[in-house]
Amino acid sequence: MLSFALGVLLGLAACVSLLDNGLLRTPPMGWEPWVRFKCNTDCKRDPENCISEHLIKAMADRLAGDGWKKLGYEYITLDDCWAARKRDVEGRLQADPQRFPSGMKTLADYVHSKGLKFGIYSDLGNATCAGYPGTTLDVVETDAETFAEWGVDMLKLDGCHSNSSLKAIGYPKMSRALNRTGRPIALSCSWPAYEGGLPPKVNYTLLGQICNLWRNYADIEDTWDSLFGIIEWYGDHQDILQPASGPGRWNDPDMLIVSDFGLSHEQSKVQAALWAILAAPFFISCNLRNISEEAKDILQNPLLIYINQDLRGIQGRLVARKQNFEVWKRPLVNGQYAIAVLNNCTDGAPRSFATTLRLLDISSCRVGYKIYSVLDKLFLGAYALSDTLIAKVPPTGVVLLFLYPLC
Ligand SMILES: *[C@@H]1O[C@H](CO)[C@@H](O)[C@H](O)[C@H]1NC(C)=O
Ligand SMILES: *[C@@H]1O[C@H](CO)[C@@H](O)[C@H](O)[C@H]1NC(C)=O
Ligand SMILES: *[C@@H]1O[C@H](CO)[C@@H](O)[C@H](O)[C@H]1NC(C)=O
Ligand SMILES: *[C@@H]1O[C@H](CO)[C@@H](O)[C@H](O)[C@H]1NC(C)=O
Ligand SMILES: *[C@@H]1O[C@H](CO)[C@@H](O)[C@H](O)[C@H]1NC(C)=O
Repeated sequence: MLSFALGVLLGLAACVSLLDNGLLRTPPMGWEPWVRFKCNTDCKRDPENCISEHLIKAMADRLAGDGWKKLGYEYITLDDCWAARKRDVEGRLQADPQRFPSGMKTLADYVHSKGLKFGIYSDLGNATCAGYPGTTLDVVETDAETFAEWGVDMLKLDGCHSNSSLKAIGYPKMSRALNRTGRPIALSCSWPAYEGGLPPKVNYTLLGQICNLWRNYADIEDTWDSLFGIIEWYGDHQDILQPASGPGRWNDPDMLIVSDFGLSHEQSKVQAALWAILAAPFFISCNLRNISEEAKDILQNPLLIYINQDLRGIQGRLVARKQNFEVWKRPLVNGQYAIAVLNNCTDGAPRSFATTLRLLDISSCRVGYKIYSVLDKLFLGAYALSDTLIAKVPPTGVVLLFLYPLC
């Protein structure tokens, strides 16, 4: 109880100089179309999969109907390619009239009627990455007001067709403009990803004051190499990245590609486990209409979500790299911990990793800890601090452990 109260107090103290919109005290969860549906605008030939109000409503129905919403998956967000090629006569963004015939306000109302939140996408530049109208500096306020009128709850602001000096003016400007609309709208900034993700070009103190989440690194692709490359980059630069993250301000390693085409079942578990350890947004980018039971079993695992949504909001750290094993550790409320043991070998057989709680530097409860294997849904037993703990980890796989103190 004491450590819980302390976590809350520290959270409040740290938030004074941060973006003061009260949003995303835990990482956002929801659905995002980009990895799975890209810029598919061909509704004639591919009506079920083109970027359209039909697709968004279908995914909202699934989020609300298939058990996702009650677990916390609440944001349905658009990515690029929703807009008409031209602004309207008054210079406002408008939805593509063929693909979104009811308009964005009606779509947002539909999403809200399902008890979900609605996110939209724009780009701080001359054009979006796919060439749709961009939010240039002169229309930042106009676009913020348009989004607020539509009932938008989150804005992902990309950075194509722009440059460093425009971004340095534009991102803080959009943050102020959203605030002035009076509507709480979470802001997701792609800014650091365009500047290499590291100081001196990226100022994480500033980002924490103007954005609720930010993409630090390259776009994820639907492959193990892409996923593992992202994990390595977050590990390599954790001394910079880990302190930048906290309640209301999250590092975003990009969408979940579980149930797409590129990952095996074990690799899918790696992404889910690491994203939980990293306190990363859980934006699923798959086809929820035919998601496999295996994938659903991973993404709807209550203990996995509990770890991701921990109220202290402390991003976990890579604490050991040894013989193609990586050990990641995240402290949670009430003296609990999550540990991920990742095996990045590709050579077939599972390998055993042996350790003790003491070696993991987990010793504040001297009696020991109850240990659960989260993704296998197994209780492993109660462990004293020096008991040997063995994790058998599949190739390009993970074992995610949850530790509950016996004190
Ligand atoms: C705008 O910012 C002020 C202070 O920074 C804050 O109190 C208020 O809640 C914010 N409003 C919105 C809608 O974000
Ligand atoms: C944006 O467009 C303007 C007007 O065409 C042009 O002068 C400017 O160089 C463009 N900026 C970027 C960063 O592409
Ligand atoms: C960025 O673009 C603006 C307008 O297009 C231009 O005035 C400015 O010099 C550019 N800055 C850099 C660093 O290229
Ligand atoms: C980073 O941003 C903060 C907050 O705006 C500012 O106080 C600080 O001087 C900036 N740091 C650097 C190195 O520019
Ligand atoms: C879902 O359906 C699409 C076709 O629309 C197919 O390509 C994909 O393999 C299916 N996925 C699963 C997990 O069944």
